[in-house]
Parts: sequence; C-alpha cells; structure tokens
Amino acid sequence: MTSDMETALRRAEASVDRLLAGRDDRWYPAAHIAARAGWINDPNGLCFVDGRYQVYFQHHPGSADWGPMHWGHVSSADMVTWRREPIALAPSVEEDRDGVFSGSAIIRDDGALAVFYTGHRWRNGTDERQGNLQVQCLALSADGGRTFEKRGTVVDCPEGFRHFRDPKVWKQDGRWYMVVGASTVERRGQVRMYTCDDPALEQWSFDSVLYEDPDERVFMLECPDFFPLGDKWVLTFGPMGARPRGYSERNGNNAVYVVGEWAPGRPFANVTGHRPGDAGANYYAPQSFLTPDGRRVQYGWMGAFTSSEPTCAADHWCGQLTVPRELALAPGGNAVLMAPVGEIEALRADTRDFGAFELGADQDAGLADDVSGAAEVEVELDLARTTAERVDLVVHRTPDGHQTVVSWDDQSGRVWLDRRLSGRGGRGYRSVPVPAEASGLLRLRVIIDRSSVEVVVGRGEAMMSSLVFPPEGPRALVLSAESGAAMVASLRVHRLRSIWESPDR
Ligand code: FRU
Repeated sequence: MTSDMETALRRAEASVDRLLAGRDDRWYPAAHIAARAGWINDPNGLCFVDGRYQVYFQHHPGSADWGPMHWGHVSSADMVTWRREPIALAPSVEEDRDGVFSGSAIIRDDGALAVFYTGHRWRNGTDERQGNLQVQCLALSADGGRTFEKRGTVVDCPEGFRHFRDPKVWKQDGRWYMVVGASTVERRGQVRMYTCDDPALEQWSFDSVLYEDPDERVFMLECPDFFPLGDKWVLTFGPMGARPRGYSERNGNNAVYVVGEWAPGRPFANVTGHRPGDAGANYYAPQSFLTPDGRRVQYGWMGAFTSSEPTCAADHWCGQLTVPRELALAPGGNAVLMAPVGEIEALRADTRDFGAFELGADQDAGLADDVSGAAEVEVELDLARTTAERVDLVVHRTPDGHQTVVSWDDQSGRVWLDRRLSGRGGRGYRSVPVPAEASGLLRLRVIIDRSSVEVVVGRGEAMMSSLVFPPEGPRALVLSAESGAAMVASLRVHRLRSIWESPDR
C-alpha cells in the first residue's frame, strides 16, 4: 500500500519536474548546492552515512517561493561531486501538516540514521496570524538516508511558547542532547536543551535553558547549533529581532555565534558577545557536522527571507547553500576561524598563475574576459610594499558597467564586498577589518559563482558571502590599483567545474 508520504513525495517530484522544464540558468550556480527547481532555504540533516555525505535542505517543490516545507536531498562520496537524491521528507501527518521544518541527523547506536525535524502547523491552517504549533519529530531511515519512516513527536512545545523549532542533536559522554530554538511566553529568544537516555531516541526530557539572548528585542533564536571546538563550545543561531550595530547584524536575517565553556550538567559560561557567523549580506541558518576525520564542517543558506531574489520571480528556482567551510578555534579561544574545506580545491581547473607583479598607480589588469561559470581567485597583496590607497578585485564586470567589487582599503583598514553596482537583487556593502596577522601580507580568496561571491579573508579570520545577480553578457575579472601601486605577491585564477555528477537536463 502506498503511504501518505509516498503520495506526497511523488507529487513533489512531479512538481519539481514541471518547474525544471522552465528553469532559467542565467544565475543558476555551478559550484553551489541548489534544488533542481523550486525554492530552498536552510541546510538540514548534515551527516556522513554509508560512505556518503548527506546534505538535506528546506525545500518547497511547488514554486520558487517559500511554501510548505519538504526536505530536499543531495549526496556525495567526497564533498566535491554531488548526486541529486529524491526528496526525502514531505508533510504527510497531522503534526507536520503545514511543513517539515529544519532539523538534524545522527546515527543511532543500532546504526540507524535518525533525523529530528520540526513538525509545523499554522493554528488557523494558513498563516502565522493566530500563531503556530511546533513540535520536534523523529524519522528513521533504513536505506542510508534515501527514504524515511516517521516516528511522530518526541518533544512537545512548552505551554504558551510562540515558536519552538530546529532541533540539533548530538551525543556527549554516552547521552543524547538536543538544542531547540524558542520564543518564550515573554517573547524572549532562547535555546533550550533536552536530554535522552532512550536507545530508540523517543523519550526526551527538558534539561535547561542553555542560552537566552541578552537583547530583549530578540524574540526568537532560529536554528541553534552547539558543538565543541578546541577547548571551547560554540553556539550558533539566528537572532530574530536583532538590530544593526555598527558593521554587524545588518542583514534581514543574521547568523551569529558565541563562544563559551560547557560540560554536561553545567551552565554555558563565560560566553562572548555575538560574533558574525559570516560578514556578508547572505548567510543564514548554518548547520555543522563532524566529518569522519574529525573536522567541524558548516554549511549555510546563502539567502534571506527579507530580500526577494530575482530568480524567485522568473527563473523557477531560488536559494542556494554556501560552499562547505571548516571551522577552527582562533588562537586566544574567543573567535572562530572559517575557510572552505580543502576538498573543493578538487573543483579547480584551467589555472592561470599570474605570479608576483606590480600593478602601477591607477592601473587596471584584466585577469579574465568572461567568468561565465564558477571561478576562484587566490591573491596575496604585499601590503608592506603597496602604496595604493585601495586595491580592487572587480568581479562580474559587464559591458554595461555593472560589477561587484572586493577591495582592500588602506584608509579604513578593512576588506569590503560592495554590491552597489552588482546588477539585480540586493545592493549595499559589507566589510571586515584586515586581520592583524595580515599587516605584511594579506591573503584573499574569492569564490565566484553565477549569482554569488564568497570572500575568505586572511587565514579565515572572516568570510563574506553575498548574492549578486549580474546582467547578461561577458563577466570580466579585473584587478585595479587606486592612488598608488599594488604589489601582488601571488595571484592565481581557477575555473571551478560543476559540482553535479550528471547534468539536470
Ligand atoms: C530558518 C527557518 C527555520 C525553520 C525553517 C522553515 O531559516 O525559519 O527556523 O525551521 O526556516 O523553512
């Protein structure tokens, strides 16, 4: 007999097929995970099972806008080349009637893959006006994560809470732990922690409030993730209601992290203030997992609910994930270093090595005439010998004068990612300080795709991920020096090949 979920999944795949037939690829990424067609947001259920990395994501197969959430799915043997998998979860039971929201994956002691997700219902059946009902649910897979059997609610919403979602589960000292993002009766943003000693993972009890945001305006902490890094613990989350403060938390949706100390049974202590999970314009709902060789790897959603992307309107797809990044604790222990995983270097092809050179005052150097797919630039600026006030790496320069600019700026002592002239979509700039360690030599890595730019600053002191939608036509890559000369210690440009095992169509 066909189950309700099988029927829902079949309908979802048929809908993606219909959308795919009209997909416009002008901005469709080559080196980033996106759905075949339709909308995606948060990465979900990251894990390594049966020799393959599994990445699930929030997915609306019905259109290129957010809608009833499913879990889309891709997998890879090496985190480089990805295979499309069938949609894994669809709304099909009363508790997830209006959406299978975000969650995480673990391997149970008996070897079964278990995912925890939020079952979402609108109280009025259509929207948030009368509030919602959100509970944490369990689903099990016996085939390495392709199909799931739902096991129902395992953690109920606390009485009177307004939001309660996004379970992240891990095992610590023989016990299972879950953090869940919450909006309390008083509208405070909390991360609540639950524990479980049941091998079936069905019996959970409330442990403690792990973290409450000190900002009273922050009413909800979405997508919490809590993990050890070096000798500290890091909590990442999306504070809803946060206001811009100087250079930080300027996006409609911001992912931040705090660092502190924690051990089972103890409070989360000596916690730092919010630090940006990424300093770009589009980075939200990050989730991490541990690779088999013990690295902490994180994916984020390169998007925001507050900005409508041009692909949603006409291209039959919307939303993409960032490249996977490895996290490490910075020396001093109160910040996180982040850089793309080494695996993605395997995507590099057609490398052009420009070596060391001097770019004269107010000169431009063309690096590529048309970066039509994905590419990566690695550049080292010898700041000690550079007299320019500003050095720009100009990306996606189109014949009609559009461009996205990554700059080192001596006056502000910052690295900028400027989308003022990027084309369609959001504008505005983001920036981070030049890392102190880079006072002599500044290393920048810029990953360019058809609708995004991700900048890695220094040794991973910061990353900036932003969406850009350049107009049609060749997309040139140019280096330019302003009011002085730039001393380039090294510069390489790589084409990045597609991440997909087989083309969509
Ligand atoms: C964050 C989020 C989550 C929720 C999901 C719904 O982007 O709002 O809190 O589970 O997206 O798609």
